[in-house]
Amino acid sequence: MSRIFSGIQPSGELHIGNYLGAVKNWVALQSTHPGALFCIVDYHAITGNYDPAVLRSRRWEMAKSLLATGIDPALCALFQQSDIPEHTELAWVFTTLTPLGDLERQTQFKEKSSKHESIPAGILMYPVLQSADILLYRADLVPVGEDQIQHLELARDTARKWNARFEHAFFPEPKPLLTPTRRIMGLDGQSKMSKSLGNTIGLLESDDDIWAKLRPAMTDPQRVRRTDPGRPEVCNIYSLHQAFNPPDVVENVAVQCRSAGWGCVDCKKVLLEGMVRELTPIRHRAVLLDADPQRVLDALADGARTARAIAQETMRDVRARMGLDALVAPTPKSALA
Ligand code: TYM
Repeated sequence: MSRIFSGIQPSGELHIGNYLGAVKNWVALQSTHPGALFCIVDYHAITGNYDPAVLRSRRWEMAKSLLATGIDPALCALFQQSDIPEHTELAWVFTTLTPLGDLERQTQFKEKSSKHESIPAGILMYPVLQSADILLYRADLVPVGEDQIQHLELARDTARKWNARFEHAFFPEPKPLLTPTRRIMGLDGQSKMSKSLGNTIGLLESDDDIWAKLRPAMTDPQRVRRTDPGRPEVCNIYSLHQAFNPPDVVENVAVQCRSAGWGCVDCKKVLLEGMVRELTPIRHRAVLLDADPQRVLDALADGARTARAIAQETMRDVRARMGLDALVAPTPKSALA
């Protein structure tokens, strides 16, 4: 049976890009793949400057938001990376096998490092830690959005290299599991929806706040006047309809757009309805969790217990195969004679 692992950074709110690209899939997969592991990767969130108090509160918000989406601790393990020190131990092992050039080639490294005058080595090593996250649990399926594909290629290379040196087929070669909504664009319609670009819609935002963001959002640039026919296939709002509305509504949206039957604001109102339908139960569960924070703590503690048992076993095996297990005194030469 395949093992599922995935992770999310607590570097900001859970947004609809995370949700549609990955987390909604986690919720579906936890029922079909018992033993799935989902990790709040807090060590990944400290590669830049950050405020410890803010990180602490974001870890909390992320755990609460994930539970609110339907992540169920009875079906899977939800835990924090920093509760399991074996992540960083295996990451060190993998740095010894990873060519520097492979890390420098990573698109995310190029993007993130261009923002620094003095580049923290953690930004370069980030995908090594990500490989360790996955392989520590010997997971073979990783539900993620499109932006993580390159990191998973590196994880496969690393598994192959370690296996070739120390034990054939010990680590599986993990594959990405993508959804049809693998790349959600920001509301500018130009770049990926991303916490660092500040172009997100949070999963727990109110209807009014969502509308304030949707109303000015980019649509088909050729639709200048209300009467201009639109092109749904180039419109980011249309792709959000595909994610949040049922097929009959999506079909009608396309017809109304092409014929200029609706203006863009009418179309956005129908999108808002679809979003509110999907997000209201999530917001409701978040309110219940706010009133009962112990449920969040219990879920994380249970998840860490499950994760720790697997992680410790993997590291015992890894150390043994690498000659790093407990020493036994050598047999004295006289006893051999
Ligand atoms: P992160 O925290 O940026 O995002 C979490 C998940 O959300 C997906 N995602 C998106 N999907 C579609 N459209 C978008 N606009 C969008 N934005 C984000 C991401 O692809 C991801 O699946 N490096 C990872 C965290 C990580 C990880 C791991 C993931 C660390 N270790 C091990 C999987 C396995 C990251 O920064 O995700």
